[in-house]
Amino acid sequence: MKRDIGLLLNPALKNIATYKVEGGQQAEIKLNQNESPFDVPMWLKEEIIGEFIKEPWNRYPDILPYRGMQAYADFLGISADSVMMSNGSNEMLYTIFLACLGPGRKVLIPEPSFSLYEKIARLLQSQVVSVPMHSDLDFDTDAILRAARDEEVDVIVLSTPNNPTSKSLTFDQVRLIVESSDAIVLVDEAYIEFSRQRSILELIEELPNLIVLRTMSKALALAGIRIGFAVANPLLMAELAKPKIPFASSRLAEITLTKVLANYSLVTDAVSYILHERDKLYNELLIIDRLEPFMSDTNFLIIRVSDAGAVFQSLRTEGILVRNVSGYHLMENCLRFNIGLVEENRRIIEKLRLL
Ligand SMILES: Cc1ncc(COP(=O)(O)O)c(C=O)c1O
Repeated sequence: MKRDIGLLLNPALKNIATYKVEGGQQAEIKLNQNESPFDVPMWLKEEIIGEFIKEPWNRYPDILPYRGMQAYADFLGISADSVMMSNGSNEMLYTIFLACLGPGRKVLIPEPSFSLYEKIARLLQSQVVSVPMHSDLDFDTDAILRAARDEEVDVIVLSTPNNPTSKSLTFDQVRLIVESSDAIVLVDEAYIEFSRQRSILELIEELPNLIVLRTMSKALALAGIRIGFAVANPLLMAELAKPKIPFASSRLAEITLTKVLANYSLVTDAVSYILHERDKLYNELLIIDRLEPFMSDTNFLIIRVSDAGAVFQSLRTEGILVRNVSGYHLMENCLRFNIGLVEENRRIIEKLRLL
Protein backbone atom coordinates (compact mmCIF):
# COMPACT_ATOMS: atom_id res chain seq x y z
CA MET A 1 0.00 0.00 0.00
CA LYS A 2 1.18 3.49 -0.85
CA ARG A 3 2.22 5.82 1.95
CA ASP A 4 -0.07 8.73 2.78
CA ILE A 5 0.90 11.50 0.32
CA GLY A 6 0.71 14.05 3.15
CA LEU A 7 3.64 12.31 4.86
CA LEU A 8 5.76 12.68 1.74
CA LEU A 9 5.30 16.44 1.52
CA ASN A 10 7.04 19.30 3.27
CA PRO A 11 5.49 19.25 6.77
CA ALA A 12 5.25 23.06 6.64
CA LEU A 13 2.48 22.77 4.04
CA LYS A 14 0.07 21.82 6.83
CA ASN A 15 0.23 25.38 8.15
CA ILE A 16 0.24 27.18 4.81
CA ALA A 17 -2.68 28.19 2.60
CA THR A 18 -2.79 28.68 -1.16
CA TYR A 19 -2.58 32.39 -2.05
CA LYS A 20 -6.05 33.81 -2.68
CA VAL A 21 -7.52 37.21 -3.48
CA GLU A 22 -10.92 37.51 -1.81
CA GLY A 23 -13.52 38.71 -4.30
CA GLY A 24 -11.36 37.72 -7.28
CA GLN A 25 -9.50 39.94 -9.73
CA GLN A 26 -12.30 41.29 -11.92
CA ALA A 27 -14.42 44.35 -11.16
CA GLU A 28 -15.74 47.48 -12.78
CA ILE A 29 -13.77 49.51 -10.23
CA LYS A 30 -10.81 47.41 -9.15
CA LEU A 31 -9.02 48.81 -6.12
CA ASN A 32 -7.93 45.63 -4.32
CA GLN A 33 -4.34 44.94 -5.41
CA ASN A 34 -2.59 48.30 -5.02
CA GLU A 35 -2.06 48.53 -8.77
CA SER A 36 -1.67 51.69 -10.82
CA PRO A 37 -4.92 52.88 -12.44
CA PHE A 38 -2.86 53.98 -15.48
CA ASP A 39 -1.90 51.35 -18.04
CA VAL A 40 1.24 51.87 -20.14
CA PRO A 41 0.10 54.07 -23.08
CA MET A 42 -0.55 52.36 -26.40
CA TRP A 43 2.25 54.20 -28.26
CA LEU A 44 4.78 52.89 -25.76
CA LYS A 45 3.33 49.36 -25.79
CA GLU A 46 3.72 49.42 -29.57
CA GLU A 47 7.33 50.58 -29.29
CA ILE A 48 8.02 47.76 -26.80
CA ILE A 49 6.36 45.13 -28.99
CA GLY A 50 8.31 46.48 -31.97
CA GLU A 51 11.54 45.70 -30.12
CA PHE A 52 10.31 42.40 -28.72
CA ILE A 53 9.40 41.11 -32.19
CA LYS A 54 13.05 41.38 -33.27
CA GLU A 55 14.19 39.06 -30.47
CA PRO A 56 14.86 35.34 -31.04
CA TRP A 57 11.94 33.69 -29.21
CA ASN A 58 13.44 30.23 -29.67
CA ARG A 59 16.56 31.20 -27.67
CA TYR A 60 16.79 31.36 -23.90
CA PRO A 61 17.21 34.83 -22.48
CA ASP A 62 20.35 35.49 -20.40
CA ILE A 63 20.69 33.37 -17.23
CA LEU A 64 20.18 36.57 -15.30
CA PRO A 65 18.55 39.47 -17.17
CA TYR A 66 21.75 41.53 -17.55
CA ARG A 67 20.21 44.07 -19.93
CA GLY A 68 17.43 44.86 -17.46
CA MET A 69 19.89 44.94 -14.58
CA GLN A 70 22.17 47.35 -16.41
CA ALA A 71 19.21 49.60 -17.27
CA TYR A 72 18.04 49.73 -13.65
CA ALA A 73 21.58 50.24 -12.31
CA ASP A 74 22.03 53.17 -14.73
CA PHE A 75 18.67 54.57 -13.66
CA LEU A 76 19.71 54.40 -9.99
CA GLY A 77 23.26 55.56 -10.69
CA ILE A 78 24.90 52.50 -9.12
CA SER A 79 27.03 49.63 -10.40
CA ALA A 80 25.29 46.72 -12.17
CA ASP A 81 26.80 44.14 -9.81
CA SER A 82 24.72 45.68 -6.99
CA VAL A 83 21.39 44.81 -8.60
CA MET A 84 19.48 41.66 -9.49
CA MET A 85 16.24 41.49 -11.46
CA SER A 86 13.47 38.95 -10.85
CA ASN A 87 10.09 37.87 -12.15
CA GLY A 88 8.23 40.19 -9.79
CA SER A 89 9.59 40.99 -6.35
CA ASN A 90 7.75 37.93 -5.03
CA GLU A 91 10.25 35.74 -6.87
CA MET A 92 13.09 37.75 -5.36
CA LEU A 93 11.63 37.21 -1.88
CA TYR A 94 11.85 33.43 -2.42
CA THR A 95 15.43 33.84 -3.67
CA ILE A 96 16.54 35.96 -0.74
CA PHE A 97 14.86 33.75 1.83
CA LEU A 98 16.37 30.62 0.23
CA ALA A 99 19.77 32.28 0.54
CA CYS A 100 19.29 33.38 4.15
CA LEU A 101 16.86 31.03 5.90
CA GLY A 102 16.43 27.33 6.66
CA PRO A 103 15.72 25.09 9.65
CA GLY A 104 16.96 26.68 12.89
CA ARG A 105 17.08 30.19 11.41
CA LYS A 106 15.09 33.08 12.83
CA VAL A 107 13.43 35.91 10.94
CA LEU A 108 11.94 39.01 12.55
CA ILE A 109 8.77 40.29 10.87
CA PRO A 110 6.75 43.27 12.17
CA GLU A 111 3.08 42.37 12.37
CA PRO A 112 0.96 42.99 10.37
CA SER A 113 3.04 42.94 7.23
CA PHE A 114 3.02 41.49 3.70
CA SER A 115 1.82 37.89 4.16
CA LEU A 116 4.31 36.25 1.81
CA TYR A 117 7.24 36.85 4.21
CA GLU A 118 5.83 34.58 6.87
CA LYS A 119 4.67 32.01 4.35
CA ILE A 120 8.13 31.54 2.77
CA ALA A 121 9.82 31.54 6.18
CA ARG A 122 7.50 28.75 7.34
CA LEU A 123 8.04 26.77 4.11
CA LEU A 124 11.75 26.91 4.85
CA GLN A 125 11.08 25.72 8.40
CA SER A 126 12.47 28.86 9.95
CA GLN A 127 11.21 30.46 13.14
CA VAL A 128 9.22 33.68 12.80
CA VAL A 129 9.69 36.32 15.50
CA SER A 130 6.62 38.58 15.19
CA VAL A 131 6.85 42.11 16.54
CA PRO A 132 3.44 43.80 16.77
CA MET A 133 2.93 47.34 15.52
CA HIS A 134 1.56 49.98 17.90
CA SER A 135 -2.24 50.01 18.08
CA ASP A 136 -2.36 53.02 15.67
CA LEU A 137 -0.52 50.72 13.18
CA ASP A 138 2.78 52.63 13.44
CA PHE A 139 6.00 50.62 13.65
CA ASP A 140 7.33 49.95 17.15
CA THR A 141 11.02 50.58 16.50
CA ASP A 142 12.12 49.98 20.09
CA ALA A 143 10.39 46.59 20.13
CA ILE A 144 12.03 45.67 16.79
CA LEU A 145 15.48 46.61 18.12
CA ARG A 146 14.86 44.72 21.37
CA ALA A 147 13.55 41.55 19.70
CA ALA A 148 16.35 41.54 17.11
CA ARG A 149 18.90 41.62 19.94
CA ASP A 150 17.20 39.31 22.45
CA GLU A 151 16.17 36.68 19.91
CA GLU A 152 19.44 36.89 17.94
CA VAL A 153 17.54 36.83 14.66
CA ASP A 154 19.30 36.07 11.37
CA VAL A 155 17.07 38.20 9.14
CA ILE A 156 14.84 41.24 9.68
CA VAL A 157 12.20 42.09 7.07
CA LEU A 158 10.88 45.63 6.97
CA SER A 159 8.20 46.53 4.47
CA THR A 160 8.36 50.33 4.51
CA PRO A 161 6.03 51.85 3.51
CA ASN A 162 4.21 48.80 4.80
CA ASN A 163 1.49 46.75 3.19
CA PRO A 164 -1.18 46.43 4.66
CA THR A 165 -0.87 49.27 7.22
CA SER A 166 0.25 52.08 4.82
CA LYS A 167 2.71 53.34 7.48
CA SER A 168 6.46 53.92 7.16
CA LEU A 169 9.57 53.91 9.22
CA THR A 170 11.62 57.09 8.85
CA PHE A 171 14.95 56.98 7.02
CA ASP A 172 16.75 57.34 10.38
CA GLN A 173 14.76 54.51 11.97
CA VAL A 174 15.63 52.16 9.10
CA ARG A 175 19.27 53.18 9.32
CA LEU A 176 19.30 52.62 13.09
CA ILE A 177 17.87 49.11 12.73
CA VAL A 178 20.33 48.15 9.99
CA GLU A 179 23.31 49.66 11.82
CA SER A 180 22.53 48.27 15.23
CA SER A 181 21.83 44.72 14.09
CA ASP A 182 24.16 42.13 12.66
CA ALA A 183 21.24 40.37 10.97
CA ILE A 184 20.60 40.71 7.24
CA VAL A 185 18.01 43.48 6.93
CA LEU A 186 15.68 43.23 3.95
CA VAL A 187 13.93 46.54 3.31
CA ASP A 188 10.98 46.06 0.95
CA GLU A 189 10.37 49.43 -0.71
CA ALA A 190 7.45 48.34 -2.91
CA TYR A 191 5.66 51.67 -2.25
CA ILE A 192 8.64 54.03 -1.88
CA GLU A 193 7.64 56.25 -4.82
CA PHE A 194 4.53 57.31 -2.85
CA SER A 195 6.35 57.91 0.42
CA ARG A 196 7.27 61.08 2.30
CA GLN A 197 10.39 59.25 3.45
CA ARG A 198 13.70 59.02 1.62
CA SER A 199 14.79 55.60 0.31
CA ILE A 200 17.51 53.78 2.25
CA LEU A 201 19.09 52.82 -1.08
CA GLU A 202 21.77 55.50 -0.79
CA LEU A 203 23.33 53.55 2.11
CA ILE A 204 23.82 50.30 0.18
CA GLU A 205 27.58 50.88 -0.15
CA GLU A 206 28.19 51.45 3.54
CA LEU A 207 25.77 48.91 5.03
CA PRO A 208 26.92 45.39 4.06
CA ASN A 209 23.92 43.68 5.73
CA LEU A 210 21.28 45.72 3.86
CA ILE A 211 19.16 44.45 0.95
CA VAL A 212 16.62 46.77 -0.68
CA LEU A 213 13.74 45.21 -2.58
CA ARG A 214 11.89 47.12 -5.30
CA THR A 215 8.93 46.28 -7.51
CA MET A 216 7.84 47.69 -10.87
CA SER A 217 4.25 46.56 -10.13
CA LYS A 218 3.04 49.65 -8.30
CA ALA A 219 4.24 53.14 -9.33
CA LEU A 220 5.69 51.84 -12.62
CA ALA A 221 2.36 50.21 -13.55
CA LEU A 222 3.93 46.94 -14.71
CA ALA A 223 2.18 44.40 -12.45
CA GLY A 224 1.24 42.34 -15.53
CA ILE A 225 4.81 42.11 -16.80
CA ARG A 226 6.36 40.88 -13.50
CA ILE A 227 9.53 42.81 -12.65
CA GLY A 228 11.22 43.15 -9.28
CA PHE A 229 14.72 44.06 -8.12
CA ALA A 230 17.03 43.50 -5.20
CA VAL A 231 19.83 45.97 -4.53
CA ALA A 232 22.70 45.15 -2.19
CA ASN A 233 26.40 45.43 -1.89
CA PRO A 234 28.11 43.29 -4.61
CA LEU A 235 29.59 40.75 -2.17
CA LEU A 236 26.19 39.95 -0.69
CA MET A 237 24.55 40.09 -4.12
CA ALA A 238 26.92 37.42 -5.46
CA GLU A 239 25.65 35.09 -2.71
CA LEU A 240 21.98 35.93 -3.33
CA ALA A 241 22.46 35.03 -7.00
CA LYS A 242 23.27 31.41 -6.10
CA PRO A 243 19.70 30.15 -5.41
CA LYS A 244 18.19 32.34 -8.15
CA ILE A 245 15.98 30.54 -10.69
CA PRO A 246 17.87 30.73 -14.00
CA PHE A 247 16.15 32.40 -17.00
CA ALA A 248 13.26 33.59 -14.80
CA SER A 249 12.81 36.97 -16.51
CA SER A 250 11.61 37.05 -20.10
CA ARG A 251 13.06 39.13 -22.93
CA LEU A 252 9.76 41.07 -22.89
CA ALA A 253 10.30 42.08 -19.26
CA GLU A 254 13.79 43.42 -20.00
CA ILE A 255 12.64 45.45 -23.00
CA THR A 256 9.58 46.81 -21.17
CA LEU A 257 11.65 47.90 -18.20
CA THR A 258 14.21 49.67 -20.40
CA LYS A 259 11.50 51.54 -22.31
CA VAL A 260 9.52 52.56 -19.23
CA LEU A 261 12.66 53.84 -17.49
CA ALA A 262 13.48 55.84 -20.63
CA ASN A 263 10.04 57.48 -20.36
CA TYR A 264 10.04 57.97 -16.60
CA SER A 265 8.00 61.18 -16.73
CA LEU A 266 4.98 58.88 -17.25
CA VAL A 267 5.70 57.46 -13.81
CA THR A 268 6.32 60.77 -12.05
CA ASP A 269 3.13 62.22 -13.56
CA ALA A 270 1.10 59.20 -12.41
CA VAL A 271 2.60 59.38 -8.92
CA SER A 272 1.73 63.11 -8.63
CA TYR A 273 -1.85 62.37 -9.69
CA ILE A 274 -2.16 59.52 -7.20
CA LEU A 275 -0.67 61.53 -4.32
CA HIS A 276 -3.00 64.43 -5.04
CA GLU A 277 -5.99 62.08 -5.08
CA ARG A 278 -4.80 60.27 -1.95
CA ASP A 279 -4.67 63.47 0.08
CA LYS A 280 -8.00 64.66 -1.28
CA LEU A 281 -9.63 61.31 -0.51
CA TYR A 282 -8.18 61.17 3.00
CA ASN A 283 -9.65 64.60 3.80
CA GLU A 284 -13.02 63.55 2.43
CA LEU A 285 -12.96 60.34 4.48
CA LEU A 286 -12.14 62.31 7.64
CA ILE A 287 -15.50 64.04 7.55
CA ILE A 288 -17.56 60.88 7.06
CA ASP A 289 -19.12 59.67 10.31
CA ARG A 290 -18.90 55.99 11.20
CA LEU A 291 -15.52 55.37 9.61
CA GLU A 292 -11.92 56.10 10.53
CA PRO A 293 -9.26 56.64 7.84
CA PHE A 294 -5.57 56.11 8.60
CA MET A 295 -2.98 58.56 7.28
CA SER A 296 -1.26 56.81 4.36
CA ASP A 297 2.28 56.87 3.01
CA THR A 298 1.40 54.63 0.04
CA ASN A 299 -0.92 54.46 -3.00
CA PHE A 300 -3.68 52.91 -0.85
CA LEU A 301 -5.83 53.89 2.10
CA ILE A 302 -6.94 51.96 5.15
CA ILE A 303 -10.31 52.70 6.72
CA ARG A 304 -11.90 51.19 9.82
CA VAL A 305 -15.65 50.66 9.60
CA SER A 306 -18.16 49.07 11.96
CA ASP A 307 -18.59 45.88 9.90
CA ALA A 308 -15.89 45.33 7.28
CA GLY A 309 -17.50 42.17 5.86
CA ALA A 310 -20.79 43.96 5.23
CA VAL A 311 -19.16 47.05 3.69
CA PHE A 312 -16.94 44.85 1.50
CA GLN A 313 -20.04 43.07 0.17
CA SER A 314 -22.09 46.19 -0.37
CA LEU A 315 -19.24 47.82 -2.33
CA ARG A 316 -18.82 44.57 -4.27
CA THR A 317 -22.44 44.61 -5.37
CA GLU A 318 -21.89 48.17 -6.63
CA GLY A 319 -18.99 46.90 -8.77
CA ILE A 320 -16.29 48.23 -6.44
CA LEU A 321 -13.67 45.70 -5.35
CA VAL A 322 -11.59 46.50 -2.26
CA ARG A 323 -9.59 44.26 0.12
CA ASN A 324 -10.94 43.16 3.45
CA VAL A 325 -7.83 43.23 5.67
CA SER A 326 -9.73 42.59 8.92
CA GLY A 327 -7.98 39.27 9.42
CA TYR A 328 -4.63 40.96 10.10
CA HIS A 329 -3.47 41.56 13.65
CA LEU A 330 -4.67 45.00 14.94
CA MET A 331 -6.73 45.58 11.79
CA GLU A 332 -10.14 44.40 12.90
CA ASN A 333 -12.89 45.81 10.65
CA CYS A 334 -10.38 47.46 8.31
CA LEU A 335 -10.67 47.70 4.54
CA ARG A 336 -7.89 48.58 2.11
CA PHE A 337 -8.31 50.19 -1.29
CA ASN A 338 -5.83 51.72 -3.66
CA ILE A 339 -6.22 55.16 -5.21
CA GLY A 340 -7.91 54.94 -8.60
CA LEU A 341 -8.88 57.42 -11.30
CA VAL A 342 -10.74 60.58 -10.17
CA GLU A 343 -14.09 59.13 -11.22
CA GLU A 344 -13.44 55.81 -9.44
CA ASN A 345 -12.42 57.63 -6.27
CA ARG A 346 -15.55 59.75 -6.45
CA ARG A 347 -17.69 56.61 -6.75
CA ILE A 348 -16.18 54.90 -3.72
CA ILE A 349 -16.46 58.01 -1.56
CA GLU A 350 -20.09 58.41 -2.61
CA LYS A 351 -20.83 54.83 -1.51
CA LEU A 352 -18.97 55.18 1.76
CA ARG A 353 -20.96 58.33 2.59
CA LEU A 354 -24.14 56.30 2.38
CA LEU A 355 -23.02 53.69 4.93
C1 LIG B 1 5.10 44.93 0.32
C2 LIG B 1 5.02 44.19 -0.95
N1 LIG B 1 6.11 43.54 -1.39
C3 LIG B 1 6.10 42.84 -2.54
C4 LIG B 1 4.95 42.75 -3.30
C5 LIG B 1 4.97 41.89 -4.54
O1 LIG B 1 5.05 42.59 -5.70
P1 LIG B 1 5.45 41.95 -7.11
O2 LIG B 1 5.69 40.48 -6.94
O3 LIG B 1 4.31 42.26 -8.00
O4 LIG B 1 6.72 42.66 -7.50
C6 LIG B 1 3.78 43.40 -2.88
C7 LIG B 1 2.55 43.29 -3.67
O5 LIG B 1 1.48 43.67 -3.30
C8 LIG B 1 3.83 44.13 -1.68
O6 LIG B 1 2.74 44.76 -1.21
